[in-house]
Amino acid sequence: MLYRWQASSRPAAGAEQGARATVAGMTTTPDTPPIDTVDEARVEAFVEQFLTDLAGAATTVMTVVGDRLGLYPAMAGTGPVTAAELAAATGLHPRLVTEWLASQTVSGYLTHDPAAGTYELPAEIAMVLAETDSPAYLIGAAEIITGQYLTLAELEAAVRGDDGIDYDAFPNCLFHGVERFFRTAYTHEMASTWFPVVDGLVPRLEAGARVADVGCGHGQSSLQLAGHWSTCTVTGFDLHEPSIVTARAKAVEAGMDGRVSFHVADAADVGPGPSPWCCSPMRCTTWATPRPHCARPATCSPTAASSSPSSPGRWTASRTASATPRCASTTRSPPRCAPRARWPSPGRTGWAPRAAPPRGCGCWQRPDSAGPRSPPTPAPTSCSPRPSEARAGHRRPRWAVSSATRVR
Ligand SMILES: C[S@@+](CC[C@H](N)C(=O)[O-])C[C@H]1O[C@@H](n2cnc3c(N)ncnc32)[C@H](O)[C@@H]1O
Repeated sequence: MLYRWQASSRPAAGAEQGARATVAGMTTTPDTPPIDTVDEARVEAFVEQFLTDLAGAATTVMTVVGDRLGLYPAMAGTGPVTAAELAAATGLHPRLVTEWLASQTVSGYLTHDPAAGTYELPAEIAMVLAETDSPAYLIGAAEIITGQYLTLAELEAAVRGDDGIDYDAFPNCLFHGVERFFRTAYTHEMASTWFPVVDGLVPRLEAGARVADVGCGHGQSSLQLAGHWSTCTVTGFDLHEPSIVTARAKAVEAGMDGRVSFHVADAADVGPGPSPWCCSPMRCTTWATPRPHCARPATCSPTAASSSPSSPGRWTASRTASATPRCASTTRSPPRCAPRARWPSPGRTGWAPRAAPPRGCGCWQRPDSAGPRSPPTPAPTSCSPRPSEARAGHRRPRWAVSSATRVR
């Protein structure tokens, strides 16, 4: 049904008996020609969508609070708890823990038994929010969103004409959120699903390749790749110096600093080397303006590597591989996979990707036997924005390249 907007709140002549729009601020005037017409159902549908979006944004605030304060891990696998028990277990303020529990219940993240006064984190939701090694552990994304809100001023300036947001301008929680978010996919899909779709890549890795991880961030992909293929040496490159510092520390922590190294470098300077090489199409997210350093050199051609026997290496990109059709990803629901492993109760024996999945299927699977659990990556305790001023001569990374891997 079409309606027109009224200039004043007073109904137009002849409209008094007409049906009134159900959306505030709109009245119907069926016997006068419309000035501007709107589809009421569409307005109402969008209002619903918008309110849902706002509810999601508000929920994310509480999710980050629950993550940073350790509320989800404290509830995972413990069964129903009262607010007082949870507050005691976490050392938090009982009344505000009660408020948090109520808000999370309204959001559908927790179940509540009013008679018993208890709250419970269901196992399936704990997989997403609390189980660090679960294939559905995605809570890092909430930190990314937080980082985006903390750089609203920079975004506003960028849209006014500053032409982009310095990657340096984002707060630590965003880098940390990226690491945690992508880590899940690297753990459960990189070796088992992504790399096998690139012809000849896995045998080269097994034979002991030199790998360049371009846009390595905190080094999760480099370290996991080196951990999976112990004959490979991996060199991570990233424009963002603080990320490289963090990646180096993680390599030392993992005892891999001999085989994995990290360097501050622009993707454009990493290749192509003396022979043609192939860079599979790289997806540049559009948070900031795509830049020349989206690493698509002029020599990049989908056929270059295959047509050139002298090619020193093949390139792959995580986004490219993840775009390959498959029946499961961290953003798709497990029921699409068949057969699907039945989920045991979470968190007690560790998660592992299927060892050798059929091509195109990344079904998740729990190991039969207990396996080591990776140490949890703790949430940052503070999230203050970094100073956004540019350093002289520093080439500032933008939110552009996801990750690219080159294998020699
Ligand atoms: C989405 S993050 C991915 C980080 C890492 N691959 C991971 O999964 O944790 C993209 C990374 O690309 C880096 N980057 C963007 N443009 C770059 C460029 N031209 N050269 C090198 N690194 C770049 C950013 O600094 C950032 O660390």
